[in-house]
Amino acid sequence: QWTTSSIVEEQVAAIRRQVGDGRAICGLSGGVDSAVAAALVQRAIGDRLTCVFVDHGLLRAGERSQVERDFVAATGVNLVTVDARERFLSALAGVTDPEQKRKIIGREFIRVFEQAERDLKAQGDYRFLVQGTLYPDVVESGGGAGTANIKSHHNVGGLPEDLQFELVEPLRLLFKDEVRRVGLELGLPETIVHRQPFPGPGLGIRIIGAVDAARLETLRAADAIAREELTAAGLDRDIWQCPVVLLADVRSVGVQGDGRTYGHPVVLRPVSSEDAMTADWTRLPYDVLERISTRITNEVPEVNRVVLDVTSKPPGTIEWE
Ligand code: XMP
Repeated sequence: QWTTSSIVEEQVAAIRRQVGDGRAICGLSGGVDSAVAAALVQRAIGDRLTCVFVDHGLLRAGERSQVERDFVAATGVNLVTVDARERFLSALAGVTDPEQKRKIIGREFIRVFEQAERDLKAQGDYRFLVQGTLYPDVVESGGGAGTANIKSHHNVGGLPEDLQFELVEPLRLLFKDEVRRVGLELGLPETIVHRQPFPGPGLGIRIIGAVDAARLETLRAADAIAREELTAAGLDRDIWQCPVVLLADVRSVGVQGDGRTYGHPVVLRPVSSEDAMTADWTRLPYDVLERISTRITNEVPEVNRVVLDVTSKPPGTIEWE
């Protein structure tokens, strides 16, 4: 019988076998997967795990403090936060190609971890790197038999060849719903376990066009409003996730008061899914859509239009890049 607690026991034993008396570092991305992977490894090897949270500047509003406060409170894990916002912004400057963005972000992540590892050397030798790779990530990155490479998920593809770590991937055989159950089993709070999936490359792949600080501010503000309204409407459990996408190179004419505006559209991408391999667009109630649209166009000056993505996966992927 493949129960959640047997998954936990098996994985804890497997991690102990792999890591022995070594030390591991784990990058927390702000998503469910890395949080659960870290909690599993923490269960297995205790304070020989150090988590590194990279603030790459591509985070959602409030995310950094959520990790630093809620996750640490739930697990008691050793946490180091690295402020790498400038580094990521300059590496991404002017880059518009989605795959190139993903590769750059993945590469910079690893580089930052390696730097963090060097900084941690005083406490011992960190040889292992924990990653929250799920089964669908493995399949979609071409790791599964006979599948095409659709997107290079940054926690699978794009690793530099001179990688100095051995990977620990305790979620590699699991789907998202199993990961959530494992998280609850490990005592993580609902706010972490049931938060929307968030891609490792963060808001960087939700800006269509080049990424810069101002565009990130705009998207972060719109995303926060959409999440607030979905939560207020009690819809968090009904949707899989609702990316908000900024069409940064598109402008349209609008009117506000007596003034003409020439602002950007954002796209709402609410989807329902079991495992993210396929998805249907979610029929959100019109009044909720209206509140999100009204608030975003009132409160985010750069945005003058809110549009709804009604494409299923396939043919559309969940993220736009
Ligand atoms: P797509 O866009 O491929 O997304 O339909 C499927 C699910 O995966 C998330 N996603 C990622 N997660 N690293 C991650 O950890 C990534 O590079 C990445 N890209 C997409 C996406 O949010 C959706 O839940």
